[in-house]
Amino acid sequence: MLKTFSFALVLMSLPLVVFAQAATARFDAGSKVFRLDGGNASYVFGVNARGELQQVYWGGRLGATDSFPQAMPMREWASFDSSYSNTPQEYAGWGAGLFNEPALKVTFADGNRDLVLHYESHTETANGFDVVLKDIARPVFVTLHYSIDPESGILARSATIENRGTDAVTVEQAAAAAWALPAGHYTLNYLTGRWAGEWTLNQETIHAGARVLESRRGSTGHQANPWFAIQAGEADEEHGEVWFGALGWSGSWRITVEQDQLDAARVTGGFNPFDFGYGLKAGEKLQTPVFYGGYSAHGLGGASRLLHRYELEHILPRTQATAGQAAPKVRPVIYNSWEATEFRVSEAGQMALAEKAAALGIDRFVMDDGWFGQRKDDHAGLGDWYVNQEKFPHGLKPLIDKVHALGMDFGLWVEPEMVNPNSDLYRAHPDWVLHFPGRPESEQRNQLVLNLARADVRDYVLGFLDKLLTENDIAFFKWDYNRNWAEPGWDQLPASEQKRVYVEFTRNLYGILAELRKKHPNVEIESCSGGGGRVDLGILRYTDEVWPSDNTDPFDRLSQQDGFSYAYTPQVMMAWVTDTPHWLNKRTTSLSYRMLSSMQGSLGIGANIANWTPDEAALAKRLIAAYHQVQPTIVEGDLYRLISPRNESAFSATQTVSRDKTQSVVFAFIHSTQKGHVFPTLKLKGLDPAAEYALTPIEGKAREGTPAAASGAWWMNHGLDFSEDFRGDFQAAAFRLDKK
Ligand code: DGJ
Repeated sequence: MLKTFSFALVLMSLPLVVFAQAATARFDAGSKVFRLDGGNASYVFGVNARGELQQVYWGGRLGATDSFPQAMPMREWASFDSSYSNTPQEYAGWGAGLFNEPALKVTFADGNRDLVLHYESHTETANGFDVVLKDIARPVFVTLHYSIDPESGILARSATIENRGTDAVTVEQAAAAAWALPAGHYTLNYLTGRWAGEWTLNQETIHAGARVLESRRGSTGHQANPWFAIQAGEADEEHGEVWFGALGWSGSWRITVEQDQLDAARVTGGFNPFDFGYGLKAGEKLQTPVFYGGYSAHGLGGASRLLHRYELEHILPRTQATAGQAAPKVRPVIYNSWEATEFRVSEAGQMALAEKAAALGIDRFVMDDGWFGQRKDDHAGLGDWYVNQEKFPHGLKPLIDKVHALGMDFGLWVEPEMVNPNSDLYRAHPDWVLHFPGRPESEQRNQLVLNLARADVRDYVLGFLDKLLTENDIAFFKWDYNRNWAEPGWDQLPASEQKRVYVEFTRNLYGILAELRKKHPNVEIESCSGGGGRVDLGILRYTDEVWPSDNTDPFDRLSQQDGFSYAYTPQVMMAWVTDTPHWLNKRTTSLSYRMLSSMQGSLGIGANIANWTPDEAALAKRLIAAYHQVQPTIVEGDLYRLISPRNESAFSATQTVSRDKTQSVVFAFIHSTQKGHVFPTLKLKGLDPAAEYALTPIEGKAREGTPAAASGAWWMNHGLDFSEDFRGDFQAAAFRLDKK
């Protein structure tokens, strides 16, 4: 055994220095320790004796006077794992024998690939620090940006990599941040899926080695979502320690979760290093996305409640109409034409649907695919963003005027980054698509991806969207994106720069969204990618809502919505009521069940309402009105997943409580009553125990003898019982509780 155990760098004798009390971000010059406090969390890191920036602590908030000695590098483990590799660095360069996931890997012009980053300096910023690291010999500088939200304790971390030398440097791997937890027993939670099957929550023990969550697709992807949560030991839905994070990037991304050689957990995330290569010429910089991270002592439920609030208050754009308010405006209840008419849109047909929609109490009418170019099906038209004259002989104005006259605003479907080869745009600019010259161009859904990284393509896309908004009274774009990349070439640039496409494409996407919002401050935008293929904290900075899945089966949606809610607020989770039997699973469900399933998020109707009976229309109208009354509580309140629909549960239930605890809404669903089992008593959560709450059914009945009003303590300790009639297959009930 080649054990050497060198402890030379242990610096126990440094003085402990007391931190000042109130500040959120503090640095102690004696111990070289940085401390960030927010909500119930503290995050501590420091400069160790070698000069590396090392993570020291992340967890529950520490006492105001608690302090730390200078960070101590981890020991060498035998001769095989160096102290450099074992030490949880905040942002480790690949060099000096690093075997764990590096944060940054570069190749210098002379072929040298060794990078060892040491602390150089720092400045204080709003609620945080900018900490500058530098390679021990060469002028590669990295500025690590830290800020902590004083309310939730959620950290926002990113890095700026700068080449201050004269020769080019190629960045082959660049993380936004690395997070670390000490040796322990942990469970990893992550979300995976596929088209029409997004948002599956996976839970597995973290073992030695790495679990890689990623997209190599050029966009976020349906298959994995850039979010993680790590539970300690026995933590569950409402108890125990959870560390969580989400990456704000809508291009190819990677999050690597490792258990290292000393049983510690590490999470490193940022640009996906696969096929990555970003050349930095003298003086150039590369800015990474932001990796957000938080801590909850109240299980996965506590973690998602923190994240939801953070998204509502710090991520989502606020429209002009809501400027100055604490949270973005709740989503209008929409009607969307896709499942009713697909590509067969026409002025008369859409007007007829609009009349039916208005009668239901819908706020926004959205015309989906089919209105432009020579679009009769998915073989043609993408790229040609002029109104189809056969379908709309007088342009969009008559339809928009009609929608307005009916008291709704108007939304329109677009898919700006795509082109069908059968289009005027492709015939004029075949070079505008992502491609490698002389190689086939792989079509999916008969379409190709425009290279949005190009300035001319960006200008074209921004131009036609701006024109649409300028010439028409459009309140909302549903921005779709229906395939992933193939042949990601950018032959306009020299070979050494072509891989910049992975960064510049997404940056231009964000730039266009930002520009449109600036020029048209009232426009609202949905991020859709054949359902939930582009949902992340990057796109949510520029969009108001997302389309979580093309799967609108109300039973499947329950578990999809459950999965979605671990990472994203129900405010952005659009949920349409569509026709039955459902096109995907051929499952037949009642309208009441479909409505309540969708009312868990931001409600919409996507059925062919022209075929609805008067009774169906009356039920939908009543439930839309009931939803309008409680919507802010459902989508902006604190969410408790009382019974998860995962793991083939026969029952499921959620509860949301308004921030001021004056209202709560409960949803309950039965997949199938088996052997006569009654629906379990729901012990409610989050209410004010001393306040009196009146119970009102929205749909369904409470058990006979349930009080009309009782204290929060009663509802939380005794709980809510359901009527014995609440049995059968695909049943749903909903209640509201209002503080008296
Ligand atoms: C995929 C979207 O997810 C659907 O809702 C619909 O807009 C179609 N595209 C239209 O092509």
